[in-house]
Amino acid sequence: MNGFVSQKELEREQELAIQSQKTLLSKTGPGREFLGWLDLPQRSQSNDLQSIREAAESLQDLAPYLVVVGIGGSYLGAKAIIDALASPFMPYEDQKKKMKILYAGHHLDADYHAKLLAFLESRDFCVNVISKSGTTTEPAIAFRLLLSLLERKYGKDGMRKRVVATTDSSKGALRKLSTDYGFQTFVIPDDVGGRFSVLTPVGLLPIACSGKSIHGLIDGAVAISTTFQQEESNLAVQYAAARNAIYKKGKKIEVLVNYNPALQYLTEWWKQLFGESEGKEKKGIFPAGVNFTSDLHSMGQYLQDGERHLFETVLSIQKPILDLYMTQREDDIDGLNYLAGKKLSEVNHFAKSGTLVAHYDGGVPILEIGLESLDEKNLGALVYFFEYACGISGYMLGVNPFDQPGVEDYKNNMFALLGKRGFEAKKSEIESKLTKL
Ligand code: PA5
Repeated sequence: MNGFVSQKELEREQELAIQSQKTLLSKTGPGREFLGWLDLPQRSQSNDLQSIREAAESLQDLAPYLVVVGIGGSYLGAKAIIDALASPFMPYEDQKKKMKILYAGHHLDADYHAKLLAFLESRDFCVNVISKSGTTTEPAIAFRLLLSLLERKYGKDGMRKRVVATTDSSKGALRKLSTDYGFQTFVIPDDVGGRFSVLTPVGLLPIACSGKSIHGLIDGAVAISTTFQQEESNLAVQYAAARNAIYKKGKKIEVLVNYNPALQYLTEWWKQLFGESEGKEKKGIFPAGVNFTSDLHSMGQYLQDGERHLFETVLSIQKPILDLYMTQREDDIDGLNYLAGKKLSEVNHFAKSGTLVAHYDGGVPILEIGLESLDEKNLGALVYFFEYACGISGYMLGVNPFDQPGVEDYKNNMFALLGKRGFEAKKSEIESKLTKL
């Protein structure tokens, strides 16, 4: 941040961040009824993991495919972790103990859902339907479509065995449906909001079905939350302070940068976490994301040279799990012999270093978050780190980071236009506004 924020300004933000951390931990700020995620890793470590693993094993025995039905916080966390850990090239034979996870109900596209149903027609599959409210339209529609297919393929009893619902302990249509049909259920705790729910059964069941270690994830989250309890000026405080210091300099967009395609959905999860938590009362850093080096060939021009209203946070993985060496070729027609003997990860590393300097020279403040490697433990720590920093940062901004009132507006208009009971009065008002747009 040299040249963008002075030491004094940064120290002031750090003090504010420490104050906000106190508000968070003492549970005295707005949204205090949704702070169950703070000690969730410790609670999960002792209670829930065994039953989630057993449910995952039962599903794995039944089918190679699991369709996760959910939207927003009810699917992004699972997809972020699964994509970060799983090979995109998993052969079908490996799917016995590692289900291939498919997604539905995260939008309303007819083509996508028709193609998914056609694909599943001749394949064995199970469904994990996830909705905290139990009434969200997109997953409810997808679930109804999938339920019909399950019933037609496997009969009522076979359908019942192939569905696990993750929802509220007592409220909502999904809870009622699960009771009436006899589905196995997992509960989303009342005090954990959707975008903070990845370390509950919302994220853990699909992750366990994909064959990854949920113990590792939870252990990583426990480890970092312990360090946060011990150090007042911890990494999350520093990150929250730094991004707010830069924001106050007029840099209103934070671009999360990765150099690993496996992190694309981690970025999507992060965008939801910060966007839905902070974008309120006409305030908040706009969270954006790019995947490098791919996007250096598209967004790179803007980042280097476009309007200077943004900063970057680079998510760096220090060691790949697998690596490749560049080889020597006698003819060297492609001119790459200068790289012979270098690892591909080194080339990626130098791409990152070169870009850091170029963008800094171009007027972009840059933060960097380093992860030793992409494994369950580090990802569990990263998830907790971002959640914790988000809580602090939201309080620094002066908003309630744990509600999302703005998400309701489009839903009400959509219900009115679709003719849902109770929204009749709004219909003509919306239709008349539409004609003027
Ligand atoms: O973070 C949130 O609270 C939202 O993004 C929700 O996760 C999303 O709207 C889905 O809600 P539900 O789980 O109630 O279906």
